[in-house]
Amino acid sequence: MTNKILCVVGARPNFMKIAPVVRALKKAGITPFLLHTGQHYDDAMNHTFFQQLGIPTPDVNLAIGSGSHAVQTAEIMKAFEPVLVSDNYKAVLVVGDVNSTIACSLVAAKLHVPVIHVEAGLRSNDRQMPEEINRVLTDRLSDLLFTTEPAGECNLLNEGVDPDRIHYVGNVMIDTLLSNVSQAPELSDVFDRHQITADFGKGEYAVLTMHRPSNVDDPKILHGLIDSIQKVAESLPLIFAVHPRTKASLERNQLFDVLAADQNIHLLPPLEYLDLLTLMRHAKMVLTDSGGLQEETTALGVPCITLRENTERPVTVDEGTNTIVGTSDELIQKTVQNIVKSGGKSGCVPKYWDGKAAERIAAVIKGWMN
Ligand code: UD1
Repeated sequence: MTNKILCVVGARPNFMKIAPVVRALKKAGITPFLLHTGQHYDDAMNHTFFQQLGIPTPDVNLAIGSGSHAVQTAEIMKAFEPVLVSDNYKAVLVVGDVNSTIACSLVAAKLHVPVIHVEAGLRSNDRQMPEEINRVLTDRLSDLLFTTEPAGECNLLNEGVDPDRIHYVGNVMIDTLLSNVSQAPELSDVFDRHQITADFGKGEYAVLTMHRPSNVDDPKILHGLIDSIQKVAESLPLIFAVHPRTKASLERNQLFDVLAADQNIHLLPPLEYLDLLTLMRHAKMVLTDSGGLQEETTALGVPCITLRENTERPVTVDEGTNTIVGTSDELIQKTVQNIVKSGGKSGCVPKYWDGKAAERIAAVIKGWMN
């Protein structure tokens, strides 16, 4: 009988999630076979994460690259199927909500290979968001569903998922954060390496990331957000790590040079995991549209301003440090000023965000396999 589990990664946020899972599976005597779809391929979005997080080199890389949603998803499916049929796998394990997640789940389900979804049940209830479609469909196809917060279980039960399949185990992204925080470099090293002057913001700064299609693809929304961000930077200098999708859109809209010329904004390429961790940890606040950063800031106790109209991670608002502001300039400025003056929400760390989520996952999988 096989004890091999095919673990899928594809895009940057998957890497932080798979690292502790692969380790915990091995420790539990289960053999992980690691497959990279190649959805993300730039060194800065990819290779450095494997090195820093100690993820083994993938057994297979499908090297799919970029494309429209349909093309990218279909190409992954076409390339994934022969790999899956070439050996006997007990299950396919997918993480998160990217196109690689749904593509491989769908192939596995059609071949009657059980699907295990890590980070199941999150819902923004916003079908404009490609990830929401990926989440709903992946959960529908999954045999074992591991949730990160109580809302995840509620959502799945409301959708009629068998409660026996759902396991509230905590957050594997926080496993990675907790196991790396002591290895993160000094702030001064990060500043030096990225040529940020020591007196940038007189030591007080905010971190910004932004890459959601809803924020960066529409020129009107992008212009509005950039105006707001420049206003924020007048009272609190910003370090902005620019995702490739965002860079391309800023350039198309002649905004990249505008930001590069702003003395209060320091532009950086996508950052290595440990450098971003250090920058976030010491930041006065983080402004973002990323799902992962909403969770990481809650774990670090750093105020987070989410530039989206909703979140699929409500525990970060109810218990953590997160405030949802959307794209309203008024709300952005008000929330920033509140944090500058009074420090913002302190929050607490949700249950099971304790560094042991992957161990719980491996234990459940072991029991399920037996
Ligand atoms: C994907 C995920 C998103 C996740 C994000 C993190 C989906 C639907 N979206 O979005 O949930 O938050 O990853 O980054 O799966 N590009 C490069 N180099 C790369 C990868 C991408 O230059 O290594 C550029 C390409 O021009 C590409 C664009 O970025 O067309 C978007 O990449 P894609 O993988 O389609 O989606 P992301 O926006 O990165």
